[in-house]
Amino acid sequence: MGFIVAALVAIRLALLVGARPEPQVPCLFIFGDSLVDNGNNNGLLTLSRANYMPYGVDFPQGVTGRFTNGRTTVDILGQCPSILNKPGFRRMIRGQGDHVSMNQQVQNFERTARRLTRLFGGNSSYAGEYLSRCIFHVGMGSNDYLNNYFMTNVYDTSTRYTTRSYAASLIRDYSAQLTRLYDLGARKVVVTAIGQIGCIPYELSRLSRNGSECVGNINRAVQMFNAGLRNLVTRFNRRLPDACFVFFNSYFAFQDLLDNSGYYGFSVTDKGCCGVGRNNGQLTCLPFQQPCEERESYLFWDAFHPTEAANVILARKSYSSPSTDEVYPMNIQQLASS
Ligand SMILES: *[C@@H]1O[C@H](CO)[C@@H](O)[C@H](O)[C@H]1NC(C)=O
Ligand SMILES: *[C@@H]1O[C@H](CO)[C@@H](O)[C@H](O)[C@H]1NC(C)=O
Repeated sequence: MGFIVAALVAIRLALLVGARPEPQVPCLFIFGDSLVDNGNNNGLLTLSRANYMPYGVDFPQGVTGRFTNGRTTVDILGQCPSILNKPGFRRMIRGQGDHVSMNQQVQNFERTARRLTRLFGGNSSYAGEYLSRCIFHVGMGSNDYLNNYFMTNVYDTSTRYTTRSYAASLIRDYSAQLTRLYDLGARKVVVTAIGQIGCIPYELSRLSRNGSECVGNINRAVQMFNAGLRNLVTRFNRRLPDACFVFFNSYFAFQDLLDNSGYYGFSVTDKGCCGVGRNNGQLTCLPFQQPCEERESYLFWDAFHPTEAANVILARKSYSSPSTDEVYPMNIQQLASS
């Protein structure tokens, strides 16, 4: 267990994905955790790593530090035509320490915004105009539940907060961080819900009654957070001039994947493709471990992270779903061309 605890010290990374200006969206800034990491984590002092085979086994460049077998959702999103016309990702923000907190990611962006203003000859209104066309993609919170609230053998958070007050406290911090991003020039912002972490192999292996039934109290706690986040998006859109915040309900989207797994081509939804122990969920995928053969039919790559096949469907939903249950009040394609 020592390994798991150390390995799960919350990793939240700042990734900045940039590319040459394109007509619709000149840039895409990414804030988040291991679900969207493209390798920033490699430079950190942490046991939570993905820079070894078979991570990246289906990625064109192989091992990069991505926590999946292939592309992440934001890799896929970046390849959608009206976002950025090419998969030309460039890493610009590097973290220090064992993880990069959301506050630190926002600070990193502050530096980037200042650099941008200098780049534009000190004309901050020009820089502001440029940033207002960029998309900011933000996803936070999974680790606050997985590696804190529900890691009761290490933290006493759950004795000090109810699930309701914990969600409220996370949303308060989040609100301040997103407001800061707005103040720095962000106008088009996608915030993603926390997915069904009660259904990931790690939690199934620890807490599921029969090894495949999702852990209800974890999912219920996460839904409180998600409801608060959706309200926050509504409030920002009403109150902040020119703000266009989009809420991607990855929880709802993931439910669809689980409920209609056959339709989407997934035959295994309760086990990692690569991992150790019950549900392949007790340890992450180990160096040089043999992963499953049919990776397109697995929902989960390892104890925590979806496969590329699942990421493709999630990214597609966030980009073009017509359902406001999934993307509210509009999808990313509409956001990009707004
Ligand atoms: C700054 O850029 C704006 C265009 O966004 C332009 O209208 C303005 O004249 C510029 N200001 C200076 C001092 O160059
Ligand atoms: C576990 O329990 C759930 C809910 O009761 C049920 O739908 C599922 O089939 C069970 N799975 C196994 C492997 O027994």
